[in-house]
Amino acid sequence: MATLEDDEGNINPTTTILADEQDDAKTVCTVLDGTTDQLTQQHYVRSIDSTVVIRQLPSQGLSFQLWPAATTLVTLLDHHRGHLTNSPLSLTLPDPHRPLNILELGSGTGLVGIAAAATLGANVTVTDLTHVIPNLQFNVDANSDILTLNGGAVDVAPLRWGEANDVKLIGRHFDLILASDVVYHSHLYDPLLETLRFLLLDHEGEKGATVFVMAHLRRWKKDSVFFRKARKLFQVEVLHVDSPSQGCRVGVVVYRFAVKLQKSNAGSLANVSL
Ligand SMILES: C[S@@+](CC[C@H](N)C(=O)[O-])C[C@H]1O[C@@H](n2cnc3c(N)ncnc32)[C@H](O)[C@@H]1O
Repeated sequence: MATLEDDEGNINPTTTILADEQDDAKTVCTVLDGTTDQLTQQHYVRSIDSTVVIRQLPSQGLSFQLWPAATTLVTLLDHHRGHLTNSPLSLTLPDPHRPLNILELGSGTGLVGIAAAATLGANVTVTDLTHVIPNLQFNVDANSDILTLNGGAVDVAPLRWGEANDVKLIGRHFDLILASDVVYHSHLYDPLLETLRFLLLDHEGEKGATVFVMAHLRRWKKDSVFFRKARKLFQVEVLHVDSPSQGCRVGVVVYRFAVKLQKSNAGSLANVSL
């Protein structure tokens, strides 16, 4: 099983955290508490006139920090709530007659899941590796008022990519799967795709979720290997492209993965080798 510890040596999260480069309108306040090495950020979400508060613990590793693609997804969700008709998410998130059930993978600090629940009035399950769960729960609890006010709810659960049993425990009753900045190490590509295959494809007569929406900041050429593998299983399209932040060559891209429609042999995608 892939562990986060394996990742820490190969990536420098400080170069990918754009606390000062992110949308200034969103990040209204950052407080660095030198004694606890804790960062508290307030993200104003205009469409619901609410502020999501997120605690980061930078010294504890990359799972405890906010990554740039998360902010892009929050901005899109905010825009969607405020401008339903011309939102890049409008075809993916039709106005439902019941609250959407959403699953977030690799939630890290939980900003995306919390903002999705609040802006869409959705039931969101945020997930990550076991050691990340306490900070995730802390952030969900810190935002309970705005979640209640906006008719959203967030559950926290461990979910390791590539572990079918973890998905079985959580269930497969989701309308939408979300993630931001989860493609960053090649040894995680296959476990992540296995989890997506399990969540999105039909199993034993049970329908999978319809779509996976993923915000991604391309850092390495090898990221294309993930997309090549993903296209074997899913129809992948681009929903939105951010302008590059200062100092970056590319901006965050938001992708939509949907199950490929097959003319015959509908079950065969479950067996495609990656
Ligand atoms: C780069 S961080 C992005 C965090 C958050 N989505 C964001 O955009 O701020 C990648 C996240 O994936 C999680 N992750 C890494 N390997 C994982 C695995 N095998 N199973 C589940 N989550 C994993 C990490 O713990 C981390 O929270």
